[in-house]
Amino acid sequence: MQARGPLMIEHRLIERMITLIRDALVHIQSTGKVDPLFVDAAVDFVRIYADRTHHGKEEDILFRDLDKRPLSAEDHRVMNELLQEHVFGRQTTKALVDANTRYRNGDSTALRDIAERLQTLVTFYPKHIEKEDKVFFPAARAYFTHDEDQAMLAEFWEFDRKMIHEKYRAVVDELKKSR
Ligand SMILES: [Fe+2]
Ligand SMILES: [Fe+2]
Repeated sequence: MQARGPLMIEHRLIERMITLIRDALVHIQSTGKVDPLFVDAAVDFVRIYADRTHHGKEEDILFRDLDKRPLSAEDHRVMNELLQEHVFGRQTTKALVDANTRYRNGDSTALRDIAERLQTLVTFYPKHIEKEDKVFFPAARAYFTHDEDQAMLAEFWEFDRKMIHEKYRAVVDELKKSR
């Protein structure tokens, strides 16, 4: 498997989550309500899976190695754009968490904000993924030899191996804080 393999497989799961969020938006439109537990689950997915685990591999391994290569101006521009989009994703998720807290506290304006942020994720992620799958990953592959690509793949697996431990250490730390 090429290094981009696991990243593209992860894109498929992110797309499935986006489909669920799209369904939730339809439900919000028709009922005027949202399940805050669904929003919690979507936030957890986006933060831990899409951002920490997936964008983590992109930024900390792939982009890091690309930074050492003589990238074309266009590839450099796209990489910066992707980085900015990751930041935008984080900001959107943070705003979604805030709106969900306000919703739980009975703020009547919160539902509109939740819907707006969910809509942003639904619009933004598929375009981001398509840019990586169809444009950036194929371009990036050309900067690496087979061995370099395989070394990145090995580093990806190692990165993933740590994630479950990081996740549940954070859960325990968070629970401890709230005791
Ligand atoms: Fe990305
Ligand atoms: Fe990605």
